[in-house]
Amino acid sequence: MRLDKYICKSTELTKLEAIERINAGHVTVNNETVIIESTQVHENNCIILDSKKLKTRAFRYLLMHKPTGTICSNNDGEYPSLFNQLDIDKKSELHIAGRLDVDTTGLVLITDDGRWTYNVTRPDKHCKKTYKVGLSYSILDEQVDKLVKTFKQGIQLQGEPKLTLPATLAVISQKEVCLTITEGKYHQVKRMFAAVKNRVLSLHREKIGDVQLDVEVGKWRYLTQDEVNSFS
Ligand code: URA
Repeated sequence: MRLDKYICKSTELTKLEAIERINAGHVTVNNETVIIESTQVHENNCIILDSKKLKTRAFRYLLMHKPTGTICSNNDGEYPSLFNQLDIDKKSELHIAGRLDVDTTGLVLITDDGRWTYNVTRPDKHCKKTYKVGLSYSILDEQVDKLVKTFKQGIQLQGEPKLTLPATLAVISQKEVCLTITEGKYHQVKRMFAAVKNRVLSLHREKIGDVQLDVEVGKWRYLTQDEVNSFS
């Protein structure tokens, strides 16, 4: 990570204050004075600011129940940021591991550990994500088997070179299904149903890997250590 970021993560200094201290020669990395704030450092390096050895704060991992009409971004945009509902210190250090659309609700994972996010989101990990989906058009009893098979075999999405990976579809009622996918392509669930001539009216993420959404809408909680480790 960059030296200025390391200092922010291990002190109460703002980024500007950290850069000023670095540029003024107050910081050593492995006993060498470093004045360039973009210098890459590692947690194993010995980083000292004004004679004090710095240690970064422990990483944070949490889940949140995203309400509809919020965006998965640190700042407000056309819609308010999901982070407005996060009553926690130093929110700007956090990011979202796997975004949802503005009109999608449900489970969102949030952390300041970039390596962990990579494990959650990297395509080759095939991490399972389960969605409850409300549909515009009814799935008739006689269509269920064929649809389940189609989702299992993979669907050709517009503009994609390959079929989607096998997905598990469970029909709850004619207009409500549960879908588990192991990828995270742009608008993937909506595009999968568009490809079978249906339309998603509501989308709610219930589960990522072994982590189940269990807080009320707009609320959050820290992940347990087991939940954190389950993505390693
Ligand atoms: N698939 C979508 O189409 N939208 C989401 O928000 C998540 C998955």
